[in-house]
Amino acid sequence: MNKEEQLSELKKKINQNSKSFPGKNLVFSDGSYLSEVMIIGEAPGQMEDKMKIPFVGRAGKLLDKMLESIKLNRNKCYITNVVNFRPEENRKPTLDEILIFRPLLFNHIEIIMPKKILLLGATAAHAVLDHEGPLHIVRGIWKKININKNHFNVLTTFHPAYLLRQPNAKKTAWKDLLEFQKL
Ligand code: URA
Repeated sequence: MNKEEQLSELKKKINQNSKSFPGKNLVFSDGSYLSEVMIIGEAPGQMEDKMKIPFVGRAGKLLDKMLESIKLNRNKCYITNVVNFRPEENRKPTLDEILIFRPLLFNHIEIIMPKKILLLGATAAHAVLDHEGPLHIVRGIWKKININKNHFNVLTTFHPAYLLRQPNAKKTAWKDLLEFQKL
């Protein structure tokens, strides 16, 4: 199967998990599936659910700026979320949801085969790195994950929605982005 076929199979599998999100749309991904850069957020918000595209709301606008600061355009990256449906009232995904979507996300990573992955925030760090403590322990540090004998380079930074609430953390996030650019 080529990448497009694999992604379409994955979409079907993800849609089998839509029952806990009644009335919500599948928000699968944006950007180029040929990209070497994969970006993983938490879960779609209201605007993303409406447009069926990840990171198109306020946090998405900031993400675009963050990417531009390291000369990346969102169309040249591949963007997705841990959970592909909008949780009711923008709540954080539950542990159960993270555990359900994790294998699907790992499947997604294996299809894209990115050279490097940027994790945005605690939910992505939890799902991908199995990190449950404070974010500062993993943030800004390159980690490697293995999925079925394939290695992936992963860096974590703050979620743009957090940066909208805590603009003081932007400086640190920009440092992380420069580190991400290096590899
Ligand atoms: N926050 C996320 O984590 N993902 C989106 O797609 C939008 C906001």
